[in-house]
This record gives sequence, structure tokens and C-alpha cells, in this order.
Amino acid sequence: MATHVSLSGFRYLPGYFDRPAQEALLEEVRAVAAVAPLFVPTMPKTGRPMSVRMTNCGDLGWVTDRQHGYRYQDRHPVSGTRWPAIPASLLRLWDDVAGYSKPPQACLVNFYDRQARMGLHQDRDELNLEAPVVSVSLGDQCLFRIGGTARSDPTRSLRLSSGDVVVLGGDSRLGFHGVDRIYPGTSTLLKDGGRINLTLRRVEP
Ligand code: SIN
Ligand code: FE2
Repeated sequence: MATHVSLSGFRYLPGYFDRPAQEALLEEVRAVAAVAPLFVPTMPKTGRPMSVRMTNCGDLGWVTDRQHGYRYQDRHPVSGTRWPAIPASLLRLWDDVAGYSKPPQACLVNFYDRQARMGLHQDRDELNLEAPVVSVSLGDQCLFRIGGTARSDPTRSLRLSSGDVVVLGGDSRLGFHGVDRIYPGTSTLLKDGGRINLTLRRVEP
């Protein structure tokens, strides 16, 4: 039985953003959502809605629906307008932790209410698998799980808090990961509770 979880290239940076920085980032996310409203993503094939609501900023945004599946596109799927720019604070984060010369092209914004979760998956819709995925947590804590490159590999669970940053680089870039649950009432950042996850990615080489 495998007991060792190999997570080379995985970095956990707890408390990267302090409270004032989290508040500033939240305002920027609100400004993004004002221009590019949260939408309900649906799964390819089944058309079932995911439990998170999403939006994006950047040149490209990750979207999914029954008809066209998982993909990146330069426009909001409902309004058809271009995504707003990635906030400067997130570009600085990327410069600080990604170890990659080119800037991120996409920032996915996931909103989790108290019931939402995200099943184990790999991030593999990018042509660029050399740049890491850089992820920021805001609001309520969650139980994040990360494993190896096979779905059946052993996994490790981490409780992520507001302001924490996770970097999926190296071998962990294609690691299966997901969010098993939200812990309601564990943060005062979002007035109505819930969790926001921001995921920065380089899509093209
Ligand atoms: C994701 O894998 O897209 C989200 C991860 C997270 O919410 O922490
Ligand atoms: Fe992911």
C-alpha cells in the first residue's frame, strides 16, 4: 500500500496576504464581478451545474458548459464581453511565487457558498503545463485535497484559510486536487460568508 504522497513542486504559503491585503483583494474581486458577473458553470456531457459560481479576469477565462465543454475563451459566456484585467496585486503575487518569466493569462474566480465543493480533478486545459498554477483563498476555510497524477494516488488534506496561497508547480502541476468542504463561519472577511478562490494560470506557451 502506498503511504507516501509525493508533492514535489507543491508549495503552501499560509498567511501570504494579511488582513488589509485580503480586504483590498476582495474589493478588486468585487470590481471584477461587477463587470463580469458570476455565472453557473455546467458540466460537459451531463449539463449538470457545478456547485461553485465563477467568473474570470485576464486575457482568457476558463469556462464550461454542456455544448462546448471545458475551455478558455476571451469573453464572458453570458454577456459576451471581454474579461476585465487581472488586478496588479495578483500580478505581483505571480511574479513573487510562480518562478515563471511570462505573466499569467487567466485568473479564475470561484465562489463557494457553504454547500459548495469541487471534486478531484487535474488542471489540464492549458497548453502550457510548465508554468505553475497559483491559487489564493479568501473567506471561509476549506478542506483542500491534493494527490498525485493518477486519480487513485494517495492524497493529503490541508485546511486552507483566508490569505493562504498554494502553488501547484513541478510534479504537482498535474496533481489531482479538489475541495471537499467549506467550514462556514470560520472567517469574517465576506459579510455573508462563503469562500473565494482565485486561480492564476498561464494558458499558452
Ligand atoms: C480549483 O481547483 O479550481 C479550485 C481550488 C480551490 O478552490 O482551492
Ligand atoms: Fe483545479
